Amino acid sequence: RTEITELYSKTAELSGKAVTVCGWVRTIRDSKALGFIDLNDGSCFKGVQIVFEANRISNFTEVTKLNVGSALVVTGELVLTPQAKQPFEIHADKIEAEGLSSPDYPLQKKRHSLEFLRTIAHLRPRTNTFSAAFRVRSAAAFAIHKFFHENGFVYVHTPLITGSDCEGAGEMFTVTTLDAENPPRKKDGTVDYSQDFFQKHTSLTVSGQLEAECMAMAFGKVYTFGPTFRAEKSYTQRHAAEFWMIEPEIAFADLQDNMKLAEAMMKYVIKYVMDTCPDDIAFFNQFIDKGLVDRLTNVVNSDFACVTYTEAIEILKKNNDKFEYKVSWGSDLQTEHEKYLTEQVFGKPVFVTDYPKEIKAFYMRLNDDGKTVAAVDLLVPGIGEIIGGSQREERIEILQQRMKEFKLNEENYWWYLDLRRYGGTKHAGYGLGFERLVMYLTGIANIRDVLPFPRTTGTAEF
Ligand code: 4AD
Ligand code: MG
Repeated sequence: RTEITELYSKTAELSGKAVTVCGWVRTIRDSKALGFIDLNDGSCFKGVQIVFEANRISNFTEVTKLNVGSALVVTGELVLTPQAKQPFEIHADKIEAEGLSSPDYPLQKKRHSLEFLRTIAHLRPRTNTFSAAFRVRSAAAFAIHKFFHENGFVYVHTPLITGSDCEGAGEMFTVTTLDAENPPRKKDGTVDYSQDFFQKHTSLTVSGQLEAECMAMAFGKVYTFGPTFRAEKSYTQRHAAEFWMIEPEIAFADLQDNMKLAEAMMKYVIKYVMDTCPDDIAFFNQFIDKGLVDRLTNVVNSDFACVTYTEAIEILKKNNDKFEYKVSWGSDLQTEHEKYLTEQVFGKPVFVTDYPKEIKAFYMRLNDDGKTVAAVDLLVPGIGEIIGGSQREERIEILQQRMKEFKLNEENYWWYLDLRRYGGTKHAGYGLGFERLVMYLTGIANIRDVLPFPRTTGTAEF
């Protein structure tokens, strides 16, 4: 059995030989004694044309009755077709229908809307758009592992069930074995989690960072790459309740080192995906986002811009008339501001650093001005924030003070504070939203279309 991608990479070698391919029918047509099938196996963007003839296969009439979507095993000769659009075709000697498809198969030849395809998430990977998107997703995931391994990072696994809220935003999904309808309650009416499985309140993780910090204090350079959960009620095109995040954490490193790492990683992954998925990227460039290839090529070949939050606010304030939400120093940046900065002002990815401490998480290192923290967000055209990171607060007294300000219970973070007691070093890290990266690589505008089975508010089908 040969995958279709191999037929393309070894065409000359296979020319005139018998090959067997397995795949699903995209289109099928016939006239009298001759028919054509476009067969696709998902191994690459392209399909292969199968030519079948009444005087060459034994079940010609049966084959002409096959519906789109059928699963076939085809054996035949690979014949070069220098005159035709495709470089070769397969002249079938044998066509076995391994799985028939009903005539009501929802993916017919016409173009379907992305909204409609979301309602059939179990079948949409068989379309051009989703097949390409999920192949790019796979290649990007591999590129990330490759990048970090080539740079001496240790891949660590952090827990999905946790007792702490890393981001302190209260956007966690509770994990419990208690009776949801009638949980045991304490005298003050609050739920009594001491009777729960873990004997305390636990949730699905919103970030593996705090645990990654523990590992960085042993290995120096680590990264996580795993599922992340947020019960954010943001009904936007770039928020999902279940997404994947990559979180490197580096010891003996500051914010500048962090930014250098982020820029090198982004360029590496973009280049890798462009090199390994050229047909998928060409498809997105033609049908989804006309400027995609130019934009990605520019990103690989030029330096990212860098501004402080304070500078960014100065720029945005002058353009407040263009925004729904007006900004002033202290405002959190909304998507419209992020997009304006990266698309209109800089025209490329831009790091924004040193945000006001009130709008960022407790663990970020307090700057000498006492007002800002050593935070960094990377904003990219078309998306806005794709990375959020910081240098971490390594000074225990300041960290404890910050935790008080955030009303965090020190008892839950004793182990995190220990890191500052036993050989704490300056250190930094960031989180890259994997789906936002895939959106950036494909030009796909909605996060629901880069997740195989998206979970957003109100959607957990499949
Ligand atoms: O900026 P965030 O919240 O940062 C953290 O969680 C840090 N603990 C990371 C770290 O320093 N180790 O999230 C990081 C990134 C965002 O920039 C965004 O790309 C993505 O995660 N992200 C989401 N992606 C999809 N859906 C959501 N609901 C997301 N929330 C964050
Ligand atoms: Mg963020």
